[in-house]
Amino acid sequence: MRKPRFRRVTAAAAEAGVLVDEVAARAAAPGPTAGGLGPLEVLVEDGGSTGAVAAAPVDVVALGPEERATPAPVIELRGLGRTFPGDPPLHVLRDVSLVVERGDYVTVVGPSGAGKSTLLHILGLLDRPTSGDYLLDGLATRDLSEQDRSALRGGRIGFVFQSFHLLPHRSVLDNVLLATLYSGVPRTERRERALAALERVGMSHRLDFMPPVLSGGERQRVAVARAVIASPHVLLADEPTGNLDSATSAGVLDLFDELHADGLTLVVITHDATVSARARRRVRIADGTLREVG
Ligand SMILES: Nc1ncnc2c1ncn2[C@@H]1O[C@H](COP(=O)(O)OP(=O)(O)OP(=O)(O)O)[C@@H](O)[C@H]1O
Ligand SMILES: [Mg+2]
Repeated sequence: MRKPRFRRVTAAAAEAGVLVDEVAARAAAPGPTAGGLGPLEVLVEDGGSTGAVAAAPVDVVALGPEERATPAPVIELRGLGRTFPGDPPLHVLRDVSLVVERGDYVTVVGPSGAGKSTLLHILGLLDRPTSGDYLLDGLATRDLSEQDRSALRGGRIGFVFQSFHLLPHRSVLDNVLLATLYSGVPRTERRERALAALERVGMSHRLDFMPPVLSGGERQRVAVARAVIASPHVLLADEPTGNLDSATSAGVLDLFDELHADGLTLVVITHDATVSARARRRVRIADGTLREVG
């Protein structure tokens, strides 16, 4: 018999009975959570594609202790494929399976054009697979609406890109603050959280600076602060050190190590052996499939 997995979210009692994916997405969305009602228990089947919401408070729902102790992996890919239309169609990812547990630090390597960024876009809910399943925190993402996907993205996923993607005409502090708009961070906490995130990455002395006058390493540290401010469940990075010299890269990788030590789950795409050497797990994409390389 399949053992169910359990997730706990806070939702209004009126939401009892709606699909689990919707409730979880709404719980991750910005806005007030239900007051005074207590959390509801959301039951997610092992397959993740269906679920039910129990109207009773958590303590009333009988759960086995071992079931409480086994949270779903942050990321689970099952036979995932991504084909781009064309003549002939381009089968970039064919049959990719991967489990990323909480607290994992995984690097993804592979030749140019192998599909690394394609995979990251799918993991970040920026793109959809054409076959197979992607479960985020045990939730099947396949049939979610764009609105629900946005809510999950804002609340659970942090992104870091090679070219930083900071807003050039906004200060360092504003760049980080703006990331809280769709993240579920309460309004009253935003400034404090932004300041703390910037302190975390060693950028407190540059709050009023505009990104164009920062060094590459400083820009990437601001981008990391922006990515982690909402306490994401996973940080996705695509060639985060690709525009940095080796000394500056080492500083960003030290920061990743610290975040990992604090419990953050990281998936980092790189073609740089020194970057992949820092991670606990390495996977390689080639010919549309993915394998563990130790
Ligand atoms: N939207 C798209 N439409 C059609 N083809 C695409 C699209 N996005 C990516 N591709 C193709 O899919 C393949 C994989 O691209 P992807 O960007 O994932 O590679 P990558 O592994 O990240 O490469 P690099 O190391 O150069 O960044 C490439 O051949 C690319 O041209
Ligand atoms: Mg790429």
